[in-house]
Amino acid sequence: MKSYVLKAGLLVGSLLVHSLVDAAEFKVTSPDESLVMVINDDNGQLQYEVFKNGKQVIDQSLLGLRFADHFGFDDKLKIVDSAKNSSNNTWEQPWGERQYVVDNHNEIVLSVRRTEPIKQKLDLRVRVFNDGLGFRYEVPTQKGLQDVSITEEITEFNMDPEADAWWIPARKWNRYEYLYNKTKVNDMEMAHTPVTMRLTNGVHVSLHEAALVDYSGMSIEHRRDNNLVANLAPRPDGSLVKVSVPFKTPWRTIQVADDAVGLVNSDLILNLNEPNKLGDVSWFKPGKYIGIWWQQHIKDRTWGTDGIHAATTEATIEMMDFAAKYNFDGVLVEGWNIGWDGDWYNNGDVFSFTKTYDDFDIEKVAEYGRTVGTRLIGHHETSGNLSNYENQIDDAFDLYEKSGVRVVKTGYVADAGKLKRIDENGITRYEFHDGQFSVDHHLRVVEKAYEHKIAINAHEPVKDTGLRRTYPNWVSREGARGQEFNAWGVPPNGPNHVSDLVYTRMLSGPMDYTAGAFDLRPSERPPITEEMGRHDVRSRIEHTLAKELSLYVTIYSPIQMVMDLPENYEARLDAFQFILDVPADWAESTALSGEVGEYLVIARKDRNSQDWYLAAHTNEEARKLGADLSFLGEGTWEAQIYRDGDEADFDKNPYDIVIEKKNVTASDRMEFDLGRSGGAAVRFVKK
Ligand code: NOJ
Ligand code: CA
Repeated sequence: MKSYVLKAGLLVGSLLVHSLVDAAEFKVTSPDESLVMVINDDNGQLQYEVFKNGKQVIDQSLLGLRFADHFGFDDKLKIVDSAKNSSNNTWEQPWGERQYVVDNHNEIVLSVRRTEPIKQKLDLRVRVFNDGLGFRYEVPTQKGLQDVSITEEITEFNMDPEADAWWIPARKWNRYEYLYNKTKVNDMEMAHTPVTMRLTNGVHVSLHEAALVDYSGMSIEHRRDNNLVANLAPRPDGSLVKVSVPFKTPWRTIQVADDAVGLVNSDLILNLNEPNKLGDVSWFKPGKYIGIWWQQHIKDRTWGTDGIHAATTEATIEMMDFAAKYNFDGVLVEGWNIGWDGDWYNNGDVFSFTKTYDDFDIEKVAEYGRTVGTRLIGHHETSGNLSNYENQIDDAFDLYEKSGVRVVKTGYVADAGKLKRIDENGITRYEFHDGQFSVDHHLRVVEKAYEHKIAINAHEPVKDTGLRRTYPNWVSREGARGQEFNAWGVPPNGPNHVSDLVYTRMLSGPMDYTAGAFDLRPSERPPITEEMGRHDVRSRIEHTLAKELSLYVTIYSPIQMVMDLPENYEARLDAFQFILDVPADWAESTALSGEVGEYLVIARKDRNSQDWYLAAHTNEEARKLGADLSFLGEGTWEAQIYRDGDEADFDKNPYDIVIEKKNVTASDRMEFDLGRSGGAAVRFVKK
């Protein structure tokens, strides 16, 4: 692989005219000068390369767009001008992994012209940060180019073919809900982003996008050897994106770090999104919620009334009592509305978002919640019918606002490419979860929800691209394989999954993983009735109990579900205490050590107290992990430790947990012996 030697005389964003050919080369470096992007227009094509500390990250790769019925930006191109800019500022998040985010980057905007057979204009905007870079195409207003249909985005990411890559397949039926593959880049298939790689030169890289608005989601297609190419989710008419000029594409992002935790600590995706454009979201309080949810997944109850209905007034009131007793902010109730009976996967046309089943009195439970000091958390399962949902959305949010609801979980259960909508001519169209229509749909829902002071947690969503910065009521989402798979009698998520998630999916933003399993063997529960069926022997959570606790710190979300049945928590109040204490909003977060797919050690500081938290988890390998406690401030701290016991093992002894207290200071080091698929979680309280 090539390495890049900084040529004398090259300045940030300087224009170099090659002496032999009439071509231009531009270089943009990160503020710390470790990351370099070089862009040229050799042979009339836009191309770029990326280097980290002189080591190659991206080899010569093409840039450009092709349109139906118009000349594209793929050929006869020339960079004719450039404008430089730098920024170093700090902005505040209303909630998040850290309160203050530093945005320090160098920018260049290259004016690109197509010269023949007609003249066309394109701008390429590039921002290079210390932790990665982003670039986007901006097509300005110009004669002859008004409405365009994009047929191809040429963007390439030519990468070390021997790099290790962690990826999930794109355009497959199960959307983002796959276990991760680890292959060489050369053996990748079409993948969703973020895709994370470890190059043979040791550099860690993650490809993704930021600010996906009015465009189709980008997957990464492996074409040959080192050649990875942007592949946009198609629209129903076969085009990829339809837009009017002027337009700008989402940012194509390349996070780059020396080690795996460098990726976790990166704020690149947020920094490339626009600031809050909605306004005040102080009505949204990060917190924890419980729900009428797991009971359906483990087949104790049903969503519909054609079995043992879970969402009754009585059951909800009982849950609200539990929430009030332990100070949870909300109670999710699934299966409250008409439409679940029968095969709900296919009931998208019949769901009502305002009519309740007879045994669920929404006014009564809302009032009860007010009395005991908790709230309903709303649920809108669309079963993939976008039009049926949009047609009812005003009334749906009205009802929930009246009922004191502050968070609504939406759901889009439908195979990839099978989201249904009726177009303006009454024709039924089918969309991908990351197609342009779905991308726009989510923002319509989020904006409508904001009018009602409601936050959105979307399941089966489009992937996260950092839009929580611009739309801070879009607080969480699924968009990966979550806890639910451990209940279904399909192969469970296994001991390695969360070690993959934290270095891939989690780089994009918060996830509603729904942690907190205390009964790690739903398979062993007796069936409720013969009709409800037996629990499948494969329904297991392949983590230790301490690892389930650690997820509240390692998998970030401002709303954290506490997913198990109340009886399972009341049976283990000692371990439950950690869940009661752990916050869901942080002042600071720093991943301390880890390897992709293997383990993570991370420290976070509570946003509303002096408390610090430290958590670690490992994959199927037992290992010793530790951390210097230098993140703690001065003085003595009580460490409240929840860690794997000596015999802990996800398969043989998952409940072996040690809960102990110790006094520590910032000069101490803490070590854990984690069992296979084990974990540790610690709260530090200032003495
Ligand atoms: C799938 C969601 O991920 C899950 O949380 C929900 O319970 C079901 N759909 C039903 O809406
Ligand atoms: Ca799901």
